Amino acid sequence: MAVKKIKDGIYWVGAIDWDRVIFDELVTLPEGTSYNSYIVFGSEKTALIDTVEPYKGEELLRNLKEFKVEKIDYIISNHAEQDHSGMIPEILKLYPEAKVVTNRKCKDMLIDFLNLSEDVFLVVEDKEVLSLGNKTLQFFMAPWVHWPETMFTYAVEDKVLFTCDFLGSHIATSELFDTSNGNRAKIYLETKRYYSEIMMPFRNFIKKHLALIDELKPDILAPSHGVVIKDTESVLNAYKKWISDKVDPLIVIPFVSMHESTRCMVEFLTSELCARGVTVRPYNLITADVGNIAMDLVDAAGIVFASPTVLAGAHPAVISFAYLVNALKPKTKLATIIGSYGWGGLVTVKHIKETLKNLKVEWIEPVMVKGFPKDSDFEKLKELADKIVEKTKEYTE
Ligand code: FEO
Repeated sequence: MAVKKIKDGIYWVGAIDWDRVIFDELVTLPEGTSYNSYIVFGSEKTALIDTVEPYKGEELLRNLKEFKVEKIDYIISNHAEQDHSGMIPEILKLYPEAKVVTNRKCKDMLIDFLNLSEDVFLVVEDKEVLSLGNKTLQFFMAPWVHWPETMFTYAVEDKVLFTCDFLGSHIATSELFDTSNGNRAKIYLETKRYYSEIMMPFRNFIKKHLALIDELKPDILAPSHGVVIKDTESVLNAYKKWISDKVDPLIVIPFVSMHESTRCMVEFLTSELCARGVTVRPYNLITADVGNIAMDLVDAAGIVFASPTVLAGAHPAVISFAYLVNALKPKTKLATIIGSYGWGGLVTVKHIKETLKNLKVEWIEPVMVKGFPKDSDFEKLKELADKIVEKTKEYTE
């Protein structure tokens, strides 16, 4: 993809990964992704902000050639993860006079990951500035979006904030800006998916970073994945809602069923909850895209884990998903467990709860059924629906 102008002297020179389907062997990418690298030409110095995933490195190099970039003075590294830092060694080979500008923590990681030598670095502190002549870059430490070493770089005069992973979206598009793409709904969805899978565990850190951005009032937000953001208010408002403690009257039911008993319970409970005015999203964990469930967990008031008992515990797919939920730490307020067993049903409850130690929720009494559910079991599920709705109202009013 050719270079694209953001403002005078500031250009996108990254790479688009049109058909990448998974990231970190964990996060699905239904819309592909991009690795956004930027170049800033000052009157005296030139800075490259972040690089790209090494296997897409040729695209970055081609873009630099297109500009006939003869000299790069600074390579700004906002984040050590290899999809942004991985081409630094190659850039240093082409531009050996360049200094890698980053914070101390990121420097240590870059040395570990890329085997860079100490003398290539220029270490900066929070709020430090670097002059490029008629343009100034300022650095702000922004830990935990996505790793502990992450920072933002601000092009002060142009009011462009380079946020690396933060506020990004996994989307491959030929359009540079959020506002130039007709499909705003898709961008919103992919921004939310990205938040849910990557940023949600760091909700409490994000509050501080959003306050900084409110203070800086950038014209443009330039993350390192997805589109460059001109409509800053929309994305910042969306993030403010997502990180708030407010939840929606939405119940998510991740389930697995081996012999239709647990499925029957899920369908009955779904119907009972719907009849009481609550939105319900059941997901079969064997076929569902986990990213879609994670997106629902951004706002959901509650989660019902539904699992059969297998050998000495819950179904492995339920435990795998519970492990992920435990890591993502959604703001979900209530949880419960339902399922069917031939023997040992309480083991399943214990197994799921133990996997969810980070989840700060109010647990509602589970409904575990021996074999296929009977009339008395359906009555228990109706009582459970009443309880879930009562609690959902408490948390959403
Ligand atoms: Fe896009 Fe944390 O790397």
